Amino acid sequence: MKLSKTTVRKFQDMIFSWWKDNRRDLPWRRTRNPYHILVSEVMLQQTQVSRVLPKYAEFLAVFPDVYSLAAAQPAKVLTLWRGLGYNRRALYLQKAAKVIVTDHKGIFPDSEVALTKLPGLGLYTARAIMVFAFEKNVAMVDTNIRQIITHYLFNGLPQKEKLIQEAADMLVPDGRAWEWHQALMDFGASAMGKEKRSMHIVKKQAPFKGSDRYYRGRIIDVLRVGSVKELQLVADFVDEYSKTPDFFHRIIDGLEKDGLLVRKKGLLTLP
Ligand code: ADE
Repeated sequence: MKLSKTTVRKFQDMIFSWWKDNRRDLPWRRTRNPYHILVSEVMLQQTQVSRVLPKYAEFLAVFPDVYSLAAAQPAKVLTLWRGLGYNRRALYLQKAAKVIVTDHKGIFPDSEVALTKLPGLGLYTARAIMVFAFEKNVAMVDTNIRQIITHYLFNGLPQKEKLIQEAADMLVPDGRAWEWHQALMDFGASAMGKEKRSMHIVKKQAPFKGSDRYYRGRIIDVLRVGSVKELQLVADFVDEYSKTPDFFHRIIDGLEKDGLLVRKKGLLTLP
């Protein structure tokens, strides 16, 4: 896989000249604190920037560093996570903080090998920390960046992941990976958004209401307010949603297995 120097240059110029007039000022761009960057990246997975903004500030006010997060009661972390969805992310984030405290003396690792060993961190998030916190010159590929590369460099034809990563590697301008990826994030969210809508490749959100994920979220919402008897909760939900009790007991099994709730003597509590 080879992109000509001209292709690379033209593409970089296109992105940066668009960015000059369209760059967003976001709080996680005003810091190089790896803990802050990790919190922002985990929140931004599957949640819109506008919804992350207030939560990011609130979360860092309560847990200003890895130590405070590592030491917290998981229930408190889950309570703060309200409104962001995908609650398991909150538990992973806390587990990562614990590993950083116990295995790295509270100091964030900056290598891909060490970062990808942290709970819940895949290659993308590891590289996001390398680029946005440590300003390393590596290439990140997320859904948006993959779409940009496919659209502009492969005529919209889907490519194997390895090829996309190789292209992404070649496109990073020397010494400017930080700006480059922030620019791609903005371009993907805005300019590509228009492309995607006109090309009808924006996937409709999977029907959320009525899915397992929906009920998982509802149950955690109830527990954020306080503990409840499992039988009481199930009875209330059966009334409200016309599903069988078994259905809700199964959802509760799943939440317990994922560590999102604790079952004790018929009582359900956040961990
Ligand atoms: N999504 C993930 N990282 C982001 C960033 N740094 N800015 C905007 N959106 C993002």
